[in-house]
Amino acid sequence: MQPPARDARNPLPERAAVIGAGLMGAGIAVVLAGGAHGIAHVTLMSRTEQSISRARTRIAGYIADLARHGLLAVDPATVHSRLRFTTSLPEAVSGVGLVIESVTEDAMTKRDLFSQLDARVPPPAILASNTSALPIAEFAGGVTHRDRVIIAHFLQPAHALPVLEVVRGPETSDETDTAMCAIWTALGRRPLRMRRDEPGFLINRLQHALVREAVRMLAEGLATAEDIDAAVTHGLAPRFVTAGPLRQRDVNGLAMHVKVASRLWPELDMGDGASVPINYLRAIVDAGGLGLENGRGFYRWPDANPKAVRSKLDDELLTLVKLRRETEEASGSCLP
Ligand SMILES: NC(=O)c1ccc[n+]([C@@H]2O[C@H](COP(=O)([O-])OP(=O)(O)OC[C@H]3O[C@@H](n4cnc5c(N)ncnc54)[C@H](O)[C@@H]3O)[C@@H](O)[C@H]2O)c1
Repeated sequence: MQPPARDARNPLPERAAVIGAGLMGAGIAVVLAGGAHGIAHVTLMSRTEQSISRARTRIAGYIADLARHGLLAVDPATVHSRLRFTTSLPEAVSGVGLVIESVTEDAMTKRDLFSQLDARVPPPAILASNTSALPIAEFAGGVTHRDRVIIAHFLQPAHALPVLEVVRGPETSDETDTAMCAIWTALGRRPLRMRRDEPGFLINRLQHALVREAVRMLAEGLATAEDIDAAVTHGLAPRFVTAGPLRQRDVNGLAMHVKVASRLWPELDMGDGASVPINYLRAIVDAGGLGLENGRGFYRWPDANPKAVRSKLDDELLTLVKLRRETEEASGSCLP
């Protein structure tokens, strides 16, 4: 089945597919099917019945959680009715205007899949990847019309967080970029547009700058893990909820900021010291520390149930997202 041509008045395609029914794929399927108008047919494809069964359970939980927090634009039954599941790639992508690839983070696996998508999904359908770190060139080599390939990178948990990164590659067309952003906006999400495909995209670059410094201070014994975390949860984070780092610095006053930055930034540009936090982190991982998963990371989690801890955090996050929505309607926009 051919995908219909794009309709400028309604950016949402009639049909979309998500390939890969793991943690992220399930959340992305809920985003696609959950908007006020939503996408009428969203098919989640996985290779095995077991992973489909796991995804169904996950999705039912996500939809119930969103409904409980009043964050679903339509009733849960409508979202469920828009979702289909299959183990067949041809069936999943038949007639779709959008494919989101969310399979294992492996260049060869993604490359092989994109070649299959090229053969089965004709333009103008958009082929988007949820890759965390691979440049488009590493997986889109087998696609004939690479102007329609783009990255749509969600944060975990995808169903709960209102932003995602839209990253264009060197061959991505303006039309694809604009259409991709328009789709997320119509689904009530805020696309963050990254104008070049650079490592870490937008959020990981910010996140890792902060985490790197946190690990460095820990490694150098400057502060405890508890105080470093509290500095963020009780200090920076509440501030950043209302103003991002650039707006916040503006609000604080740049004259003062430049004085502090002139002394501090050369310290943070660590030169040879760059190895300190990474060595510290490697030592924890090499010693088998996986974090919450096995109870050993920066902290000890001796009796923690990872599922229960994550579920509690998801709940808090949804409460916060709801609060934010009440104060400021999430307005999706794509600044040029
Ligand atoms: N986990 C995160 O926090 C996170 C956040 C943002 C982006 N991502 C990215 O999302 C993608 C998926 O990550 P995940 O965490 O959901 O992984 P996951 O391991 O939970 O799921 C990946 C799924 O893809 C399936 N798969 C592998 N090859 C396939 C194929 N050829 N066809 C169909 N299914 C196939 C696997 O069986 C598995 O079910 C990765 O590219 C990852 O980097 C992950």
